[in-house]
Amino acid sequence: MGWTDEQKSAIEKSGSNILVAAAAGSGKTAVLVERIIQKIINQGIDIDKLLVVTFTNAAAVEMRERILDALYKKIDENPDDENLKRQIILLPRANICTIHAFCLEVIKNNFFEIDLSSNFRIAAEEEIELLKQEVLDDLFENYYEEEDKDFIQLIDTYAGYKGDENLKDIVLKIYNFIQSSPYPRKWLHEKVELFNENNNHETDFGKTIWGEIILNEFSDRIQDGINNLKIIYNKLIRFDELEKAINIIKNDIECLEDLKQKTKISWDATFESAYSFELVRWSDDKKISSDLKEEAKKVRSAIKEKINKTVNDIMLYNSEEAFKDIFLMYDILVKLEKVINEFESEFLKRKKEKNIIDFGDIEHYALKILVQEKDGEFVPTEVAKRYQNKFVEIAIDEYQDSNRVQEEILTKVSKGNNIYMVGDVKQSIYKFRQACPDLFLEKYDKYSLERK
Ligand SMILES: Nc1ncnc2c1ncn2[C@@H]1O[C@H](COP(=O)(O)OP(=O)(O)OP(=O)(O)O)[C@@H](O)[C@H]1O
Ligand SMILES: [Mg+2]
Repeated sequence: MGWTDEQKSAIEKSGSNILVAAAAGSGKTAVLVERIIQKIINQGIDIDKLLVVTFTNAAAVEMRERILDALYKKIDENPDDENLKRQIILLPRANICTIHAFCLEVIKNNFFEIDLSSNFRIAAEEEIELLKQEVLDDLFENYYEEEDKDFIQLIDTYAGYKGDENLKDIVLKIYNFIQSSPYPRKWLHEKVELFNENNNHETDFGKTIWGEIILNEFSDRIQDGINNLKIIYNKLIRFDELEKAINIIKNDIECLEDLKQKTKISWDATFESAYSFELVRWSDDKKISSDLKEEAKKVRSAIKEKINKTVNDIMLYNSEEAFKDIFLMYDILVKLEKVINEFESEFLKRKKEKNIIDFGDIEHYALKILVQEKDGEFVPTEVAKRYQNKFVEIAIDEYQDSNRVQEEILTKVSKGNNIYMVGDVKQSIYKFRQACPDLFLEKYDKYSLERK
């Protein structure tokens, strides 16, 4: 096959992590397969020293077939090459698999590291959902019996007409959500701590991250209004006889500019202006009738309504009240975090008693085997280091389908400069930027492929 120059460099380049981001059908998988073959032929690397992961079983099977085909093709060209023939023998035990299968291998070879019995089974989703509910019911029952004060406060806050179902729902939803993070507890704790504004108490609420978000949102909505007014203004000024309307719209724009300016000053300045905000009454020359005039009237009253609605939606309190609200919220969230963590511990315990693991556990257990916390950092374990030494390269096809837990797993079995990621151009780069913005183009080389 005649490779393009870009494909060639994506096949040959080494020494850093590489992201190959290219369009569908541009030859991404073909490049990945060729790269593997080249490693075998040119660098004498055995196929079982590579970790090649995909995200579906079908893709894993196809990958294996494509590598096997490529090997046979090379053997046809060099029938006496013993090294190539040996790869055919090694292939069945090579790590060309889904990331799930790799995680299961990590667990099965190291189950003793995580206090799991070797004959665990993966439970069906329905069984897991039932168990979750059971654990949650028992946990709540326990809190009621102990008259746990924190818990009662949570119930007071979240219980609705369905009794405590609301709170149960919240606990489950958050528990499920945080499983997509490599370190769920740490993640949750960090997010809860974002509400810990005790140290900022003396400052204006606009200086907190929440105040800033709200002020920016308010400012954006005001700017939308200004933009709409400017459009109608530019239409009006072509008609001298509409002078009255022109002046009113001009005045409206100034008022909104003024209000927007307040969001740059402080929360309380914005709050006060927002509440006393008003646009002058519409008055015009009744003798002149014009569609444009009617349009202007409509535009400004829509804006007036939108600003008022925004004030009622997001500018509810002055700075002091807003702080009080955040303190209260933080207090509640700390308690909620505690319940979620207790649920997690209890759920895990029950699964261990039953000798089952759920689908999400596969990745989290693998990560537990590969990572340990040291001085607040998550560093590779001895097991992870063994994998680091084993794998010359870690290749990932369809990188855009990976989640953060999987990414962390692959990162931890890598030496730091030998991950080869291949994915769809738009989704991969977007995801990549999100995952490690500081690494982008620094530790990574990026290629895009273009078929001529
Ligand atoms: N330089 C090339 N010259 C000729 N054919 C090529 C070249 N590069 C790739 N192809 C062919 O293009 C087809 C698509 O390639 P491939 O499956 O590797 O693309 P892909 O980017 O992985 O696609 P997908 O987005 O579906 O994963 C294959 O048949 C492959 O052999
Ligand atoms: Mg492909």
